Parts: sequence; structure tokens; C-alpha cells
Amino acid sequence: MAQTRTELARGLFAPLGPTYDRYATLLSFAQDPRWRRFLVSRLRVGADDTVVDVACGTGAVVRELVRRTGCSAVGVDQSPEMLAEARRRLGETTRVRLVEATAEQLPFEDASFDGLTAAYLLRYLDDLPAGLSELARVLRPGATAALLDFGVPPGPLPRAAWNLWVDVGLPTLGRAISPGWHEVGRFLGGSIREFDDRWTVRRLVDALGEAGFEDVRARRLSLGGCTVLWGRRA
Ligand SMILES: C[S@@+](CC[C@H](N)C(=O)[O-])C[C@H]1O[C@@H](n2cnc3c(N)ncnc32)[C@H](O)[C@@H]1O
Repeated sequence: MAQTRTELARGLFAPLGPTYDRYATLLSFAQDPRWRRFLVSRLRVGADDTVVDVACGTGAVVRELVRRTGCSAVGVDQSPEMLAEARRRLGETTRVRLVEATAEQLPFEDASFDGLTAAYLLRYLDDLPAGLSELARVLRPGATAALLDFGVPPGPLPRAAWNLWVDVGLPTLGRAISPGWHEVGRFLGGSIREFDDRWTVRRLVDALGEAGFEDVRARRLSLGGCTVLWGRRA
């Protein structure tokens, strides 16, 4: 039977936890901390609020949420290995809780959260509309969800440079780092292109509307290398 995207992600991230933060920053030309800051800046939350970060990985967005807004945060990820690294880095405090679960079946009541973030989750959803509905379900009405993922730069020159980077640079650097990163380096370009073809920014905005979000916005960052979407739970 063909592997689902969720299963593929489970295998891909299993060996990466301890080195993820260092190399994710390097491989995105140090852009991804900036993208996460913009993502978190879309939420209007404070010390009395609780935000869920889905596909939290090693906890970079959770860290930014708590540091920047003072909110409480729940990080959710399907990978025990990535969560182990998040636990090592963040600890579990009264402000931070980490939960092993899939985005498709969040173990929370309806309307549990005052905000939601998800960085690099969308490409791994087997059924994106159903996944977005599940994210909407756990948000209280009026709360904001902010999502980001890689994109293919639309301009011809940035796109040519991006193609060279994902086809040659990433696999070469990945191989030099470790077998796990070699796998990621070979996988990422095709995964981002395929997602970009299937889900244009326009289609993503519409899908968020259909999943129960209103006032949906999108912004491309770094010449289109990243797309951030956000909207309010209706
Ligand atoms: C590229 S990492 C991003 C981690 C973190 N959001 C960040 O900004 O660094 C993608 C994460 O998504 C998780 N993931 C992928 N598909 C998932 C799913 N269906 N449910 C929960 N987590 C998922 C992986 O385990 C991995 O930790």
C-alpha cells in the first residue's frame, strides 16, 4: 500500500530531533526564525490565553509564542523523537505542555484554544480540507489561526535560484550532514513544488474559508520562499 504523507513525515523526522534547529536555520539561509516571528505576530494573544502549536517539532514556535506574548502554549506533534527534543529544550512548565498526537485527530474539546499556529504542517496533510476543519474545530470563535509553509518563488530569477538550491544545494549539503538530512535534502524540492502546484495561495485562502475561517489573509515572505496564511475562526 502506498505510504501516506503522515507516515512519510513520521519516518523523515524521526532521526532529526537533536540537530533539527541548527540545520533547519542553515538550510533556509537563516530565514526561518524570521518567518516564525511573523507567524506569531499574526496572533493577538496575551498572558490569559492558551495557544496550540500543531506540528510543533522541537518547539521553536512554542518558544517564540511564550517569549513574545506571555501566553500559555500546548505543542502537538506526531513524532515522539521531535517531541523529546522539544521537552529537552523547553521543559514542561505551567506555561508549556507537549502532547503526542496527529493534526488530523487533535485530542482536545471543541473551542479549547484562543489561538493556533502551525509551521510546515500543510504539506504533510493527506486531506488538507479535513485537516483545516480539525484545526478550526479546536479554536474558539473569533480566535486566529496562523499557518506557514515553504513556497516556490513566483518571479523568474528568484525561481531559477530556488531551483538550483533545492535541486543541487540542499541534497549536497544534506549528504554532508547525515543520512537523515540527505533524505530531507532530496525530498524537500519535489514536495514543495508538488504542494505549490496543487495548492496555489488562492486555493489555500479559499480552503481556509471553507473550513470555517473568515477575514483570511496571505503574505509571501522572502520572494515567495515562504507563505503565511492567517484567519479568524468564524
Ligand atoms: C519541518 S518540522 C517543523 C517543526 C516546527 N513547526 C518548526 O517550525 O520548526 C514538521 C513537523 O511536523 C510534524 N508533522 C508532520 N505531519 C504531522 C501530522 N499529521 N500531525 C502532527 N505532526 C505532524 C513532524 O513530525 C515534524 O515535527
